[in-house]
Amino acid sequence: MKENKFGQLWQLLLARLHVWIVLCCLVLVCTSPWIFIGRSLRSNASVFDYLHVYLGLVCALLSLGFLLRNSLQGKWRQYFAWLVGDWAQLAQDCRGLLKGKLPVAGGKGLFSTVEGIGLLLLLATGLTGVVWFVYQGTPLAMAWRGYHQGFAQAFIGFLVVHTLLAASHVLEFIRQ
Ligand code: HEM
Ligand code: HEM
Repeated sequence: MKENKFGQLWQLLLARLHVWIVLCCLVLVCTSPWIFIGRSLRSNASVFDYLHVYLGLVCALLSLGFLLRNSLQGKWRQYFAWLVGDWAQLAQDCRGLLKGKLPVAGGKGLFSTVEGIGLLLLLATGLTGVVWFVYQGTPLAMAWRGYHQGFAQAFIGFLVVHTLLAASHVLEFIRQ
């Protein structure tokens, strides 16, 4: 019975993973201008500092689950087709885009490729944060803070592109 409940909760989490990750990332990114953590969490750290570190750890775990869910059972072929040299649909989408034609979602095209890059960037942002956590207070912490900030900025770049593509898709859907 207990196992059953756990299984149901797990399924619910997996099914809603995109929503949980969107919520976590929006909070983490939008509150990041107010955090100042540095080498370690200070004893007088602000509520935003604590929120960032602990919600960040949760989000790092979710990002690993998201990548696995979208990669296992051969699904990686959709998001990472370029890994096996399959550029056909991506090239077709990009040529179409230059002529003002929006790409379709799904398949191995632009949408999926961008989503795959996002999965990797979020994992890298989370992992570099976790490594900072492990080295907290040591001289290595500042180096990992730097890597984390770099990946976080690249991830924000992904968020902008992904949101624009998603919005264009919704607009297209309404116009039909
Ligand atoms: C996976 C989700 C995460 C996202 C999206 C995220 C995002 C960000 C962003 C946008 C910044 C500001 C970057 C800048 O200043 O240019 C930042 C800074 C930082 N994050 Fe994260 N983060 C995440 C997870 C974590 C984790 C797990 C930790 C550690 C447990 C962490 C610790 C830090 C630290 C120490 C800084 C530097 C803050 C400072 O000293 O000013 N983050 N993060
Ligand atoms: C600003 C927040 C976000 C918005 C508005 C948004 C919107 C969307 C939409 C509308 C779709 C469906 C695309 C379609 O099939 O037409 C989608 C799918 C997807 N998004 Fe996002 N997204 C956001 C944040 C994220 C983040 C932070 C990630 C993390 C890497 C992500 C990764 C994905 C992936 C992998 C898919 C493929 C379908 C799935 O596995 O759920 N998105 N997104």
